[in-house]
Amino acid sequence: MNKDSIYKTNSFYWDTKGNDFLGAIVLPLYGAFVSEEKCQLFGDVSGKKMLEIGCGNGQSLKYHGDHKASELWGMDISEKQIEKATQHLSEYGLSAKLICSPMEEECGIPEDYFDFVYSIYAIGWTTDLEGTFSRIASYLKKDGVFIFSWSHPIHKCVVRENDMFTFNKSYFDDSWYSVPLDLAGEGVLTLADYKLSTYVNALAKAGFVIEQMIEETDKEILQLQDENNDFAKRAKLFPVTFVIKARKL
Ligand SMILES: C[S@@+](CC[C@H](N)C(=O)[O-])C[C@H]1O[C@@H](n2cnc3c(N)ncnc32)[C@H](O)[C@@H]1O
Repeated sequence: MNKDSIYKTNSFYWDTKGNDFLGAIVLPLYGAFVSEEKCQLFGDVSGKKMLEIGCGNGQSLKYHGDHKASELWGMDISEKQIEKATQHLSEYGLSAKLICSPMEEECGIPEDYFDFVYSIYAIGWTTDLEGTFSRIASYLKKDGVFIFSWSHPIHKCVVRENDMFTFNKSYFDDSWYSVPLDLAGEGVLTLADYKLSTYVNALAKAGFVIEQMIEETDKEILQLQDENNDFAKRAKLFPVTFVIKARKL
């Protein structure tokens, strides 16, 4: 696994295809079937300093701006996403400090500064989970909160064959692989699927205590979906997203 070539492949993808293809995964949603409005993991953010890791086009930062956070900071590996975020936030009269960098690297974010660091479907792109969690811990004040969501690793192991879901990949396999993510087969991303225990152990090593973990599918959101939709069928049977709320000790 060559970190620089992964940065290059993935930033190219997010600069060119990015959210236009995936559809944004943004607050109040942590993923298709989990919502902040129900889970209330952040609580009242008024007057709080917020940093988003992998801020994409800035819609989740806007959500916190609308809820009166005092400072909005975001970072992302893709220049294009940073441009989109700058434009989106300025359209709503919100100012934010936005930095283009891989989350794994030192990039001038202040230490012992933030009340919340959060990430919606971006943490799993890191090439160095322990290093990234340790940087995130350094950005937070003591007792500061880190919240992140990502694809549930079980969801990544299961494929649909006719009307059955079957395991086609080992849950324990965390090797790096490339996926075409564009319908025309053009966009490529490189990633690895970490186990839940890998996230939990990396959080503990970085000095976090886990306060809450969510893997349930929200039944009310599920009811709004077409029940023949493949994603909804999955979400009914097993978790497709997980969210962790952790506090820096
Ligand atoms: C699914 S999007 C997140 C969308 C975001 N939550 C929003 O509100 O728009 C994932 C983001 O992670 C960024 N990303 C991927 N790898 C990264 C890395 N190593 N460091 C920082 N950002 C990264 C991508 O550029 C992309 O904008």
